[in-house]
Amino acid sequence: MDEEPIDERIIDGRAVAARVRARVAEQARQFAVEHGRPPGLATLLVGDDPASALYVQLKHRACEEVGIASIDRRLPASVDQDGLMAVVEELVADEAVDGVLVQMPLPEHLDPEPVVLAVPPAKDVDGFHPANVGALALGTPLLPSCTPAGVLTLLDEYGVQLAGADAVVIGRSRVVGMPMALLLLSRDATVTVTHARTRGLAEHVRRADVLVSAAGVPGLVTADMVKPGAVVIDVGTTRTEQGLRGDVEFEAVREVASLITPVPGGVGPITIATLLANTVRAAQLRVAHGDRPVR
Ligand code: GUN
Repeated sequence: MDEEPIDERIIDGRAVAARVRARVAEQARQFAVEHGRPPGLATLLVGDDPASALYVQLKHRACEEVGIASIDRRLPASVDQDGLMAVVEELVADEAVDGVLVQMPLPEHLDPEPVVLAVPPAKDVDGFHPANVGALALGTPLLPSCTPAGVLTLLDEYGVQLAGADAVVIGRSRVVGMPMALLLLSRDATVTVTHARTRGLAEHVRRADVLVSAAGVPGLVTADMVKPGAVVIDVGTTRTEQGLRGDVEFEAVREVASLITPVPGGVGPITIATLLANTVRAAQLRVAHGDRPVR
């Protein structure tokens, strides 16, 4: 059977992630030789949401592949805030654990805010702690959050020029939109952040040389909104009856864009690879500086 011709406009997130994982595996091996133990990641999943359980499973499989030791803690959805905090603190205190990740979202009755604060910046491989977000804002990232940092890796791997580019981010979430905007700014792009209250979204989007959409609204970005030659990164992932859908109308927009990520196979794989990279970085920083949030 003939293979489909490769469309060079489609960003191959799986291939970039494989290269990042190979680099991380070498760093993890080196770390284990030097320090007598592998880098360690602990995850905590509360409740039994199937999508969250799948993400956690993928994270552990990825750890195993690159030689990161991982701890998979689970709590029932019925746990109270004190019970949750006790387990977070236990994981944080574990000397063999370099990174702690509490899978979000938490069940409704639990407040994520104290959890985010309980993971110290030096072990915050999600990059959610205010100190890590603040460092990003100042252009001195310690542990940047995984999805936006992964997007930057994709842009760099494909040689996308960011300095001076008009970058538009759709969404201002703490996990993607806000840190994405800060990272693009740190690379000297001219950044516009749009969100649910933005008037005239299409006009903003049409100016983008680089568009990052993280709205979680399937079909939000149509071909008429995209400047010819723009680079389009689709972070949206919404489960629909037709499967996983991004924010971008892929088939139409790919005809206009110079580069575009598919869903799936675009941003998803690089996010997990970046988590692995952050874990090794956290381990290296800890042995060098202890638990203080230093660069
Ligand atoms: N839920 C969805 N994405 C993420 C992520 O990047 N980190 C955590 N902890 N939870 C998530």
